[in-house]
Amino acid sequence: MRHSADQPLDLVRRPRRNRKAEWARRLVRENRVTTDDLIWPIFINEGKVPREPVATMPGVERVSVAEAVNVAREAKELGIPALCLFPNTPPSLRDEMGSEALNPDNLTCRALRAIKAAVPDIGLITDVALDPYTSHGHDGILENGRILNDETVAILTQQAVIQAGAGADVIAPSDMMDGRVGAIRIALDDNGFTDVQIMAYSAKYASAYYGPFRDAVGSSGTLSGDKKTYQMDFANGAEALMEAELDVAEGADMVMVKPGLPYLDIVHRVKSTLGVPTFVYQVSGEYAMIMAAAEKGMIDPERAMVETLTAFKRAGADGILTYFAPRMARWLKAER
Ligand code: PBG
Repeated sequence: MRHSADQPLDLVRRPRRNRKAEWARRLVRENRVTTDDLIWPIFINEGKVPREPVATMPGVERVSVAEAVNVAREAKELGIPALCLFPNTPPSLRDEMGSEALNPDNLTCRALRAIKAAVPDIGLITDVALDPYTSHGHDGILENGRILNDETVAILTQQAVIQAGAGADVIAPSDMMDGRVGAIRIALDDNGFTDVQIMAYSAKYASAYYGPFRDAVGSSGTLSGDKKTYQMDFANGAEALMEAELDVAEGADMVMVKPGLPYLDIVHRVKSTLGVPTFVYQVSGEYAMIMAAAEKGMIDPERAMVETLTAFKRAGADGILTYFAPRMARWLKAER
């Protein structure tokens, strides 16, 4: 290639040509987020107060069971395929064993029935784990400082069957106990719920980014210690593939990687290796970081939203659980 002061560059390939205008960029764009990719996680509150802000998650509110129906209507209107429900259980109902998880009239079950009755054609995903129900804030049964695996799994299978009975379309175990997907699959089938899907939180890391969520479900004050004996070490990648493989072998219909942005390599490896429907969770801390920076005028939240969600698609995700779901859906509508 000739290059000198009087001899201009003579380039055959100029990648910038395809970037010269928005219409041209649209033509060569490799990945895009659509409303079909979005799952909207919502927090359910006890009582009549329709909405209450979550202090650590600007723009996110806990809603009453009645108001959850309106949220579902909004999701439907926006074209969002599914909601994921998380309960903020009153402290008085939390105990050592997380017994409220097995109450067929708990917050999650009431919200499931109310939404199913009013908005039947929206997908409802429920979290299986004990942390919103235990007084110690752990996802399982705690004995002498240890989380018991098999004893916890026995409870989780009942929790899953109860949620399916209340109308859950997808059971999403987020507890990271060994063998829970297989046990839940058998329990669902034994109880006639052969069509209820399982979305396994397969590669769920012990992460600093769950802080605002624990605030939202009222478990940040109660959690004793950390979750490192069951959630994954963030230094590990191959282990995530093993976890996802096990879950698929045990009957998971979909797998999930969580958190999202710091784990794009894992999303890519899981999707390209296993080829199964792969989801990613842009968790509360990721959302809060963008919104907090936006409040300080340091970042444009809308652009950060579109960029991060598109990055998940580029990494290979089939869908994204994100607190930006309604905002992204509105953005997509305005784009058309
Ligand atoms: C509970 C659960 C957590 C999240 C989803 N399910 C928190 C935790 O494991 O402590 C985190 C979601 C988020 O941070 O947005 N098993």
